[in-house]
Amino acid sequence: MTETGAPQTGARVLSGMQPSGDSLHLGNYVGALVNWVKTQQQYDAFFFIPDLHGITVPHDPAFLRERTRNTAAQFIAGGIDPERSTLFVQSHVPEHAQLAWVLTCITGLGEAQRMTQFKDKSAKEGTESASVGLLSYPMLMAADILLYQPHGVPVGDDQKQHVELTRNLAQRFNHRFGETFRVPEPFIPPVGARIYDLQDPTTKMSKSASSPNGLINLNDTDKQIAKKIKSAVTDDGTEIRFDRENKPGVSNLLSIYSAVTGKTVPELEAEYEGKMYGHLKVDLAEVVVAAIGPVRDRAAELLADPAELDALLAKGAAKAREVAAETLQTAYEKVGFLPAAAPTA
Ligand code: TYM
Repeated sequence: MTETGAPQTGARVLSGMQPSGDSLHLGNYVGALVNWVKTQQQYDAFFFIPDLHGITVPHDPAFLRERTRNTAAQFIAGGIDPERSTLFVQSHVPEHAQLAWVLTCITGLGEAQRMTQFKDKSAKEGTESASVGLLSYPMLMAADILLYQPHGVPVGDDQKQHVELTRNLAQRFNHRFGETFRVPEPFIPPVGARIYDLQDPTTKMSKSASSPNGLINLNDTDKQIAKKIKSAVTDDGTEIRFDRENKPGVSNLLSIYSAVTGKTVPELEAEYEGKMYGHLKVDLAEVVVAAIGPVRDRAAELLADPAELDALLAKGAAKAREVAAETLQTAYEKVGFLPAAAPTA
């Protein structure tokens, strides 16, 4: 399945975004958040901030706390309704780490080492200093997902391999210990599933971009957004046409435009026929500012009342735990753990 599809009643989705930078970026917004907002209309939706994943690489504790709250504010500002969806922080629901251990024990070492994200990140850290946490990251992610028995996991293209591993682990567990977990589908948007760096349109837009101009943050000012789009790398020639191989820069701008406005790429190609790259950039800057500016401003308002945000997250964690605890108990029983008897006086 590549889109959200038509759900059955009571169908569920779950997804998360790491609090690894001062702000989410345009790739997170277009590749995931926009799709989350759509799914919450039709599904019983669970969205969370994977702070346990945030410590798999070296981190600063004060930043982690601050970024966790920032991320929650940006989710809500971007359209997640905490009344409708269950919004929570991963470390507030201990069942995630508990199920992760069980799944780690049914994952092969080679299987974990083959994960692209582990290979990339451990190459960056240096294999010797990369943590075992980084290696077991995908099993924690599988636990995040399987605890909630979701039908779909709305993510960008780069998380496909992790969802595939999650499906394999669910099937393996069910096969060994009996039917326990639903096998979820990745929900990947048809456009915007992979947004590229504005300065290097052959690499994915990410928090670890080599130039700050390659990345648009959801807390950038209107001026910064416009400047970054206007200085985006384009390609030889003048034609505005989607051609990922030969025109990666223009193709990236067209994908962003399409994802933000809902216009299709062929519609945009027709609209810009005979026009210059400069025209496209000026218009794109305008539509991106119109989409992101209000998110930035609303997030700042929400962050002005951290106690209210923390209360919302506590409420979300309590709701999430109800579901997570039930699944964990079933999995523990299936695996053969002796149930803890009630203490006698
Ligand atoms: P993370 O935090 O790297 O990214 C969050 C979401 O944003 C999408 N994304 C992109 N989409 C399009 N273009 C890009 N350049 C781009 N960069 C990021 C990602 O695909 C993702 O959907 N492992 C996950 C977090 C996680 C999770 C989970 C997700 C932990 N547990 C359970 C789903 C379910 C991650 O690091 O995403």
